[in-house]
Amino acid sequence: MLNRDAARFFFNLMKNNPLPRLDLDDGAIRKKLLPFCRLKKNELWRDPDGKHTIGCADATDDAGFIEEVFGETVGTTLAIFDPPYNLAVFERQSVAEYIDWCKKWVDSCYKILADDAAFYIWLGADQREHFQPLPQFMMMMAKTPFKARSFITWRNQRGYGTQKNWMAVRQELLYYVKGEPVFNVQYTDIPKILRGYYKEVNGQLTENMERSRSTNIRAGNVWVDIQQVFYRMEENVNGCYAQKPLKAIERIIRASSNENDTVTDFFSHSGTTLLACERTNRKCVTFDIDPVYAEITIRRLEHYRATGRTGWQNSHPFERELGIEKKPVAVF
Ligand SMILES: C[S@@+](CC[C@H](N)C(=O)[O-])C[C@H]1O[C@@H](n2cnc3c(N)ncnc32)[C@H](O)[C@@H]1O
Repeated sequence: MLNRDAARFFFNLMKNNPLPRLDLDDGAIRKKLLPFCRLKKNELWRDPDGKHTIGCADATDDAGFIEEVFGETVGTTLAIFDPPYNLAVFERQSVAEYIDWCKKWVDSCYKILADDAAFYIWLGADQREHFQPLPQFMMMMAKTPFKARSFITWRNQRGYGTQKNWMAVRQELLYYVKGEPVFNVQYTDIPKILRGYYKEVNGQLTENMERSRSTNIRAGNVWVDIQQVFYRMEENVNGCYAQKPLKAIERIIRASSNENDTVTDFFSHSGTTLLACERTNRKCVTFDIDPVYAEITIRRLEHYRATGRTGWQNSHPFERELGIEKKPVAVF
């Protein structure tokens, strides 16, 4: 993650681009985009294909509105949340305030989930501030009815490039459950290379390769095979600053839900969870507090259905209204 000064520097380099990172915009671009946004606060977009629902709502203050939406939905079996992380680049609060804020959406999530459901949360850890808010968040979760199941680390292959510390290439992903949800083992694209784990099966000594269901390794709780989204990738959504890779979200969805299940995400942003649901044949109910990101989420689905493309590598979601530059522009 860039610090604010570096991010501002890149923003200045990119300011001729019709859609630079929206979190660094001084308000001018947002003013241009808002008239094109279909949702206002506490409004819903219903998928004409009857599969998904997108809302503009505050995950903490609009619990009543959000719960009402789920009143119409049967059995949501998976939640994947990627909230702002309380790091320097975002609006920073005290850790206690941040955890109180998180507790509200955690409680709402518990209420709307089915009796057997999985809950995944992406979270940052600030190494300059005693790794806040990760330990405090874990302690808060210990007091809820959710049960901890795994602490996944995604190697996101990006960092500060510092000479004075270990390069920061990790992203935390916490996995909790309510009841006993489904879990489908996931394999990576990485071939198995380690041999020599012997075990007796029906009186025969077998080597691990003979016993395996796959020639590739299981994902486990350290993911090293998923590329961070960057501007050269088809799935890149210019304007967004915190997009998660489809491959990571699809892995979670395949592991922790079945086809036709309902999956939710209260922090939609570029609409990755929604698109991953579309591609894996799940239904999605998703929200964002910001009408611009709610609109981007709708457009990402429409764009995928119309073109088969997962993002806008050399363009952006408001290309019709704002136009595009001819050359690709780096977005961080
Ligand atoms: C880290 S981004 C999520 C990225 C997303 N997983 C993706 O792949 O695009 C966080 C999003 O949460 C939204 N957000 C922040 N506070 C919120 C709140 N109280 N309720 C709902 N959404 C909120 C922001 O507008 C932002 O789009």
